[in-house]
Amino acid sequence: MFKIKRPSLCDPEMPLVCLSDFEMYAKEHLPKSTWDYYADGADECCTRDDNLMAYKRIRLHPRMLRDVSVTDMRTTIQGTEISFPIGIAPTAFHCMAWHDGEMSTARAAEAMKTCYIASTYATCSVEEISTAAPDGFRWFQLYVYQNRKLSEHLIHQVEAHGYKAIVLTVDLPYTGKRRNDIRNNFKLPPHLKVKNFNGFFEELNGNEEYGAPANSLDSSISWKDIYWLRSLTQLPIILKGILTKEDAELAVEHGVQGIIVSNHGGRQLDGGPATIDALPEIVETVQGRIEVYLDGGIRTGSDVLKALALGAKCVFIGRPVVWGLAYKGEEGVKEILQILSDEFRLSMALSGCRNISEINRSLIQFSKL
Ligand SMILES: Cc1cc2nc3c(=O)[nH]c(=O)nc-3n(C[C@H](O)[C@H](O)[C@H](O)COP(=O)(O)O)c2cc1C
Repeated sequence: MFKIKRPSLCDPEMPLVCLSDFEMYAKEHLPKSTWDYYADGADECCTRDDNLMAYKRIRLHPRMLRDVSVTDMRTTIQGTEISFPIGIAPTAFHCMAWHDGEMSTARAAEAMKTCYIASTYATCSVEEISTAAPDGFRWFQLYVYQNRKLSEHLIHQVEAHGYKAIVLTVDLPYTGKRRNDIRNNFKLPPHLKVKNFNGFFEELNGNEEYGAPANSLDSSISWKDIYWLRSLTQLPIILKGILTKEDAELAVEHGVQGIIVSNHGGRQLDGGPATIDALPEIVETVQGRIEVYLDGGIRTGSDVLKALALGAKCVFIGRPVVWGLAYKGEEGVKEILQILSDEFRLSMALSGCRNISEINRSLIQFSKL
């Protein structure tokens, strides 16, 4: 779909070697309003940018002479093995970046043996995604609508198509204010659809926002709705968007199976914490009772190492996957996962860790204030 061209700052023969190279490529090649949609954060983008900067404030405390000739990055999430602790966070509208969008993403995750969390706002249906990568390990991200029939319908669909967990996004009772989308009057291009809403569009609301029904999210959603969700499915429930120890404790008390520490890539509340800064108090509160994951700002292997050292079981990447799609579809997403996992393996080895269980808090250099 897009002519393959290397970042203009590089020699045309030079390979893309890190995630920022893919970012540069996507910025150059995607239409401006599409790029802005993927890149934007809320308001002044302080939280979006702090997600990245926070990693640079953390220093490692590496150990030497530990025979790192063999390293093993495998881990499990919710009992399923993945080849490295890096999964794909749910992001909307992949068909804007590559013609078969989420189907390519699903094939890449399947090939790399990691977890893909498909978004409610996918531009391919849950069925198309599972057919594209029948052996893939997938979770489904859910929003709750005023019309609960839509959520119930989606849950039945994902159960029927082999998705292994429901990821309930809890940080979006309303959509955050993203200035560039307003300036660009951004809308999903007319040839694309949120296919999971087929048959529900008319019932939900006539107005559209981003090509999805507007004002139809249920902003009254509260902790009691976890019990409603539990009554609909036996799949593990993971809450995405937890940022405090108080909510982490409530999550455990409400019987969910996992938490993703997330601020939606800084697209919701501007001024909230960077996710890596929010992680330690949550891990300390949860005390291993449920699994804790993290997303937001992961761009290098040492970011992954820091997140695991501070207690995340696995991290998820959002925007970099879209950059990979914009570069070369399935191949591009595989390259992103390969580069990030190679960097992670190297960071592990250079800090003296042979396997995931050797990564712990002692790897973090706490400054003496
Ligand atoms: C373009 C875009 C679309 C997103 N769409 C969704 C979505 O549909 N559902 C959801 O729960 N989170 C969504 N997110 C948030 C991501 O799941 C994730 O929290 C965030 O992208 C992680 O930060 P990163 O992009 O720095 O890796 C979206 C993020 C972006 C950038």
